Amino acid sequence: MKKRIAVLPGDGIGREVMEGAVRILKAVADCFDHEFEFTEGLIGGAAIDAKGNPLPPETLEICRESDAILLGAVGGPKWSDVPTDIRPEKGLLGLRKEMGLFANLRPVTAYQQLVNASPLKREVIENVDLMIVRELTGGIYFGKSERRGENNDVAVDTLQYDVHEIERIVEKAFQLASVRRKKLTSVDKANVLESSRMWREIVDKVSVNYPDVQVEHMLVDSTAMKLIHQPGDFDVVVTENMFGDILSDEASMIAGSLGMLPSASLRSDSVGLYEPVHGSAPDIAGENKANPLAMILSAAMMLKYSFDLEKESRAVEAAVTEVLNDGYYTSDVGVSGKCIGTKEMIDKVMDKLNENHAISG
Ligand code: NAD
Ligand code: IPM
Ligand code: MN
Repeated sequence: MKKRIAVLPGDGIGREVMEGAVRILKAVADCFDHEFEFTEGLIGGAAIDAKGNPLPPETLEICRESDAILLGAVGGPKWSDVPTDIRPEKGLLGLRKEMGLFANLRPVTAYQQLVNASPLKREVIENVDLMIVRELTGGIYFGKSERRGENNDVAVDTLQYDVHEIERIVEKAFQLASVRRKKLTSVDKANVLESSRMWREIVDKVSVNYPDVQVEHMLVDSTAMKLIHQPGDFDVVVTENMFGDILSDEASMIAGSLGMLPSASLRSDSVGLYEPVHGSAPDIAGENKANPLAMILSAAMMLKYSFDLEKESRAVEAAVTEVLNDGYYTSDVGVSGKCIGTKEMIDKVMDKLNENHAISG
């Protein structure tokens, strides 16, 4: 199979972890006889420095011509004072919007080997396997936003959704729930927000087409509590853009580290953007400390969701699991074991992948 992949390392640890994804994918191509063509583009702070624009037109062009996009992370203190509309984060938001990637899938798994890395009790997180489905191209992130008033002393951000935007993400979540454990939790703030009340109506309407999926509505504040109290009760969680952003970082503690959570941003065809849930981690950037597994697992999601390469995707996930089984961790994962750096972790996953392939012939 021949595929074109856009590679956008971005800023901070983005570049360090991206090296892992690209090396692993090259190994997958060799092991399973595929051809992956990688084209690198600038985004975020790196693009501001080089082009004065966090999403240069040539980057968008590379993405439009690709079958899938890999992204490391954007942002950092270096760009904290640039004007709002050219911040590094605007590059990422613009890319999601321009590419129409409305459905952000953020799976959260409690890895057996990392149970002690979580601040939560073993019995609370054991066997957790949930999927946050976050609406990604609407809501308060993309509503009218401005400063007003004679002294610019009023700030406005607008949370707006139309029916179509909600319907398509809810539909996606039902589809996912129907092939998983058939439970969907829709998260909102319907006791306060009009957009949430419309969200609930749409969930109820779409649910009629999925009679075997059990649906519950939950307010976002109590969801935040329940995610750490009884995370095992969740299967698929669907929610709007900002709630999904916040809940997914919270849920990363079930996996033990933000450095373990991958994501896929999808639309209705097979094109997708794959990025870790974490950011550019300026506090550890350049120190060979970043956990590359969220990025590598994002590449595994790409193999599955954009290229329909299930076997290859599972091979990458298995390689990661086996490295954890061998007791290797990066320093973000606070468990006793063999603490190694970013590059060494990438080498370990590479070795497993190559080794397993040699064994299976
Ligand atoms: P962050 O996710 O970058 O880091 C939060 C904490 O988690 C830090 O202590 C960091 O060291 C740690 N961490 C994150 N990923 C890790 C990994 N792979 N391995 C080990 N430790 C890891 O969030 P932040 O510090 O709030 O934000 C920093 C910058 O990143 C900001 O500019 C923010 O806008 C940006 N950001 C970008 C993305 C993205 O590109 N998708 C996502 C989130 C934040
Ligand atoms: C994420 C990030 C982004 C978001 C930022 C960097 C714009 O936090 O991907 O979770 O809020 O969507
Ligand atoms: Mn986030």
